[in-house]
Amino acid sequence: MPEVTLALVGAGQRGMTYARHAVASGAGRVTAVAEPDPARRAAAVAEFGVAPDRAYPGWAELAAAGRTADAAIVATQDRQHRDPAVRLADLGHHLLLEKPMATNEAEAVDIADAAERNGILLAVCHVLRYTPYTEALKRVVDEGRIGRLISVEHLEPVGWWHQAHSFVRGNWRRQDTSAPMLLTKSCHDVDWLMHLFGRAPARVASFGSLSHFRAADRPAGAAARCVDCPVEQSCPYSAKRLYLDCLGDPARESWPLSVVTDARDKAGVLQALRTGPYGRCVYDCDNDVVDHQVVSMEFADGATCSFTMSAFTPMDHRKTRLMGTTGFVEGDGSTLRIVDFLTGREQVLDPLTGAGPSAGDGHGGGDEALTDAFLTAVATGDRDLLHTDAARSLASHRVVWAAERARTTGTVVTLQG
Ligand SMILES: NC(=O)c1ccc[n+]([C@@H]2O[C@H](COP(=O)([O-])OP(=O)(O)OC[C@H]3O[C@@H](n4cnc5c(N)ncnc54)[C@H](O)[C@@H]3O)[C@@H](O)[C@H]2O)c1
Repeated sequence: MPEVTLALVGAGQRGMTYARHAVASGAGRVTAVAEPDPARRAAAVAEFGVAPDRAYPGWAELAAAGRTADAAIVATQDRQHRDPAVRLADLGHHLLLEKPMATNEAEAVDIADAAERNGILLAVCHVLRYTPYTEALKRVVDEGRIGRLISVEHLEPVGWWHQAHSFVRGNWRRQDTSAPMLLTKSCHDVDWLMHLFGRAPARVASFGSLSHFRAADRPAGAAARCVDCPVEQSCPYSAKRLYLDCLGDPARESWPLSVVTDARDKAGVLQALRTGPYGRCVYDCDNDVVDHQVVSMEFADGATCSFTMSAFTPMDHRKTRLMGTTGFVEGDGSTLRIVDFLTGREQVLDPLTGAGPSAGDGHGGGDEALTDAFLTAVATGDRDLLHTDAARSLASHRVVWAAERARTTGTVVTLQG
């Protein structure tokens, strides 16, 4: 298989993850890097052996050089997806594009149109579609082992400290600088549910709000920063406990600690908590995204799905129950328990390779499997290796926007057929 050359756009957490998988697999080589942060850019250039004249301070400068690679990894922040994706697609690059495609529908449509018009492969990083667990579950459904799918109950247990890290103190805490949490966190879940059903719902309703990480819930005497706080030890959301406990654990140093600081000692971490956003009291931040939300979906044939996303859980694999006309599946993100109504027999499948659910663990094997599928699809031209395409990704994002409309207007939203 020919080696795929890659331009890395955004050498942050996610971009580096995909680039490392690509290089480690032997199927890809990073030949250009666009990254405004000089330290990140230099680190990526050194790690991947990129020629100095192929290192750029941003995607616009990279694009000005024309087509520098077969494909581009676009892993900039949520609001910076449309412009690089459209420009690089127009130059003929295949795209591995981080989710969400964009923070609004018009920009997502622009990206899908650019992919179509240029005939490029567009893989939106819905990594959950690619895990061994999902592959096994999808096979169970598609082989008809539980009959016709009538209802699904799905939980995304975000995790109390993950909520505090990403959605209260971190990058995805505000709708005006990022997007609603259903899009930034659970476009994965909506996309995954549509993958299982094989179609989009006809109607959606949704409820949810920010109910806890607010000034009204601040404990008496709490300080603005955990390092100064007299009640920090009794707070489950203590930044001191969360980040100091990462030291010495390679997976947690890689995520979430590396988002907070490059330091790997106590003094350095405390310094970051004293000055940076991740040391703030969770009841004294400028966050406005929800901390719990439900989405109800109805499909054209009457099948239903209820989805819950909640901060108030351990951070764990998603949990799902699928109810069919002739069988039932209960999945805990690791194993699948299948019950056959005709025989009453139960079977347990254990498709997972032991990978945990978080970014530090590679999202249950999904990061690696998606990278492999993308590189092989680019090298061979076999589009079927990708479990989704521009049109399907756009359709699943549209369901998210419809659900947000339903939540914010208190209505049931009907989707276009
Ligand atoms: N698929 C998943 O499971 C998953 C998980 C987490 C995050 N994400 C998504 O991945 C994306 C990146 O998240 P992250 O955590 O890696 O963020 P990050 O902030 O670590 O990385 C983004 C990088 O883009 C760089 N950048 C900014 N402007 C640029 C420009 N003009 N040209 C090139 N690079 C530029 C930044 O300097 C930064 O290094 C986001 O859209 C996020 O929502 C996806």
